[in-house]
Amino acid sequence: MNNCINSSRSGNLRLGIIRMNFHIMTLFPEMIEQGLSTSITGRAMNKGLISFDAVNIRDFSNDDKHHKVDDYTYGGGAGMLMQAQPIYDCYLSIVENIVSDSAKKAPRVIYVTPQGQVFNQKMAADFAAEEDLIFLCGHYEGVDERVLEEIVTDYVSIGDYVLTGGELPAMVMIDAISRLVPGVLNNDESAMTESFNNNLLEYPQYSRPEEWMGKKVPPILLSGDHKKVDEWRLEQSIIRTKERRPDLYEIWLSENPPKPEKKRRRRKKAAEQDADKASDTDLNKED
Ligand code: ADE
Repeated sequence: MNNCINSSRSGNLRLGIIRMNFHIMTLFPEMIEQGLSTSITGRAMNKGLISFDAVNIRDFSNDDKHHKVDDYTYGGGAGMLMQAQPIYDCYLSIVENIVSDSAKKAPRVIYVTPQGQVFNQKMAADFAAEEDLIFLCGHYEGVDERVLEEIVTDYVSIGDYVLTGGELPAMVMIDAISRLVPGVLNNDESAMTESFNNNLLEYPQYSRPEEWMGKKVPPILLSGDHKKVDEWRLEQSIIRTKERRPDLYEIWLSENPPKPEKKRRRRKKAAEQDADKASDTDLNKED
């Protein structure tokens, strides 16, 4: 049985908005539903901007009695392996639904695994351009390699540590992707200026009161001078990135090399000369 949580597709099509659909192959659909149906992802789902379809792999087991989906590993070794057949049948049922829906191509299939490429903001943006995405959440000691070869297009990890299953990593990725879907965040700007855009971390932010526990809000933020505020924020982003994520800072630096000193000095001198000329003209006018 599919546990599809979504809202009206036809409503969205009328408005010309394309909904992004997440299909999650899992042994724990309720975990996905509980994790994604609240907060911003829940609101986006209710607005019909995204949908989650948590499909229970166990429902595709050929073992009618125990609904078994795992077995011992050939060659020996500890633990059980998820078998190819239930996963493949689960995949086929999802793809059949998607493709019969319209003239769509088979969607990308992400296998969440510590052996994958480490997920980042750029990958989130890349995935957010898709209309349908399928996630495969593994459990036990892994998944039979043959079904991975057959269906998986992307192997993705959320970091260099091992979790008990793929549901949490899938939810992490779905959350990061969903918030890039147009309309999901209230304020478009918050997606533009946040951490990792241009490989810089976000600058520090402050709200009321102006002073808290003896700590004052940086005066420039109270000045009302938007240009200065923007300059200050960029400077803080650079400082913060250099301190906390030197790896990202190096990338940013390579893409934004400092302007050559000579040119800068020449430009400064020319600007000073222009200013002198302007003030001479003003003086002459006064004469
Ligand atoms: N499954 C178990 N650990 C994982 C990780 N770090 N990333 C993605 N999937 C996983």
